[in-house]
Formats: sequence, C-alpha cells, structure tokens
Amino acid sequence: MANHYLDWNATAPLASAARAAWLAAYDQSWANPGSVHAPGQRARHSVDQAKASCARLLGCKSHELVVTSGGTEANALAIHSATFGQSLAADAVLMSAIEHSSVQRNGETVSAVRLPVDVCGRLAADTVRAAASPTTRLLCVQFANNEIGVCQDVPALVAAVRAVAPQARVLLDCAQGAGKAPLNLAALDVDFASIAGHKFGAPKGIGLLYVKNGIRIAPLLFGGKQQQDRRSGTEDVAGLTALQAALESALAHGEEESIRQRMLLESAFARIALVLPKVQWLAHAAQRLPNTLSIAHPGVINGALVMRLDLAGVSVSTGSACMAARGEPSHVIAALGIDLSLAKSVIRVSIGPDTVAEDLDAFVNAYISEVKAMTAGN
Ligand SMILES: Cc1ncc(COP(=O)(O)O)c(C=O)c1O
Repeated sequence: MANHYLDWNATAPLASAARAAWLAAYDQSWANPGSVHAPGQRARHSVDQAKASCARLLGCKSHELVVTSGGTEANALAIHSATFGQSLAADAVLMSAIEHSSVQRNGETVSAVRLPVDVCGRLAADTVRAAASPTTRLLCVQFANNEIGVCQDVPALVAAVRAVAPQARVLLDCAQGAGKAPLNLAALDVDFASIAGHKFGAPKGIGLLYVKNGIRIAPLLFGGKQQQDRRSGTEDVAGLTALQAALESALAHGEEESIRQRMLLESAFARIALVLPKVQWLAHAAQRLPNTLSIAHPGVINGALVMRLDLAGVSVSTGSACMAARGEPSHVIAALGIDLSLAKSVIRVSIGPDTVAEDLDAFVNAYISEVKAMTAGN
C-alpha cells in the first residue's frame, strides 16, 4: 500500500540537495575544521561558507550563528545564556503557553511565567505588556507553532516587552518557520532565534542558534572552545553544509509553493466539511503556516484515529511527535480553551514541497470514512 506522509512538522524527508551536499562534504571536507593542516582548512572553509550562506538566507551576520545539534539545544542555550548568573525576579522569564516543550521545560528551570493565548493560539501584545516589568529579562515566543501552525505577531510582541523592559532579550523559536517562510532575523530585532534543520530537509541532529551581535553566550558544553567557546565540540561540517543546501532549496520554492500548499489544505478541509459538517480547523482565523491543518471532530479520540489512518496508509499525528504517545490533549491544544471532547479529537496534518494532490485525496477519503465509523450511533 502506498504511504501518504503528511507529518512534515514532525520532520521532513531529506532534501535531495541536502543529501548531495552532505555526501560531497563527507568526501571533500571530512577533516576536523579545527586542524591547521590543509584538509582541516578545507573543512574550515566549508563551515565558513555554509555559515555565510545561511546568514544571507536568514538576514543576519555569519558570526551571529552558532551551530547546534538542533532546535532543542538552540532553545536551551538561549534560555541559559539569558538567565545564567543573574538573580531572577518572578517575572524574569515570560513565554507563551504554547511554546515547544524544549522552551517550556528549560523555562521551568528558571520558573518562567506562561502567558495565555486566545482560541487561535495568538499571544496578545497587551498580555505581554501587562505581565512584564523592568525586571523581565527574557520573552520566549514562536515564529510559528508546530501543532496548529499559528504565527505570532513578532514585531508587536518585541515592541511590547521592550516598552516595559528595555533590556529584555527575546528568543524567537523559528524551528517551524525557517524554510517555510522568509525570515529576516535582523529586521525582526530579536536577540536569539532557533533553527532546526530536519524540519526543512536537512539531516536530523543539526541546527543553528542566532545570537545577536554583542550578546554573550553562557555555554552549556565545556570542551575544546570551538565557535568562540560558545558551543564546544567539533562542528558537524557535513551536517551544516547539508543544512545550508536544504535551507536554500526550501526557500527557493518561494511564495508559489506556499500558495500551492495552502490551496491543497483548504480544498481538503472543504471536501471533508461537506460530508462532516461538525469538523473544525483550529486557528483557521489566524495568520498561519501554509502547510499545517489542525483538524478536530467531536466524538473522536485522536490517538485511535491516527492509528486507523495509519492502517489506511496516511501518516499524520496527534500533534507534537515528542508527545504523541500521551492520551490527553497537548499543552498547546489545552491552552486554546476549547471543549475537552473536541480537544481530544485534534490531529495535525502537515505537508511539504513533495506533497501532491493524491496524498490529500487519500487523507480526505480515509478521514471521512474513519470519523464516520468512529461516530456511528452518536
Ligand atoms: C517549535 C519547535 N521548537 C523546537 C523543536 C525542537 O527541534 P529539534 O527536534 O531539532 O530538537 C521543535 C521540534 O519539533 C519544534 O517544533
């Protein structure tokens, strides 16, 4: 049976450009980029080139990028750096209630305050202004949410926190934004931004942390002082080279691809709604990623539905892949304040540049027939 992979927010398949770049880097730039000999310098050159190109694509400077193992490490490094060695007031760290667990759990170590969002997952600038004070040191927000795709109004949130706490840092978790939407980090005026390569076709285990020029990093790892002692450990030359290639190829798809993805999901949802009028698209009214459909239907249990769809050859998820095993609504869905029976039915469909209309046709048919079967007699 054909498989229809509709879980791109969990991870994207390796992009062909990334694969080619990864293999070429392993052939030609396999040496340690810290070595002074010629092969080492070749590897160093590859690192420098990849970083410079990523910086151009992300709207920042090359020296503002720290290579990490992915989004989780980037978020941890930013939160640690913004809070390390400081006496922290109760409102020192603020974050939206729908942050990824890598932000939430690192935030817990510094007693972060979770700020409520509206029914679409939007954090209001007024909420930030009301929660912040001159002792606020860090605000953590997402470019886009991994489960419902909602995009935050980043300039408004940055302005809101700085109006009250001019010295506050802002961490923008771009794990779901990079490669899916154009980003200009300097223009967004954030202090930190996290990038997860595997979300846009790079191999797993490679990412970036943007650190605005002049901001000091408090390292999490101590060792060979690579990357100006901001992140010790030999850089993953091939991984970084592949990340650069994946980012370039993802962004080359441009606005046309975003429109194509948006139309595929809109059409799929409309066809489902014709047959199942109680179906809902969470966060539909908000500014969203074009590739994400968070869909709910009362009377259905999402874990069971995901399994039934899987048996029909359609791979979707209940939300964050890291939390997929749990039966309760995720903290993201819970934060929306929707009815519990609807919350328990939410599944996430997320697509990418390889997704074709037939994949969505398979989803629409399977969703309709499984939801009908699960709600028969209700
Ligand atoms: C919004 C968000 N932040 C951070 C991460 C963590 O990234 P990684 O898997 O590279 O550690 C993810 C991954 O699901 C994510 O969706």
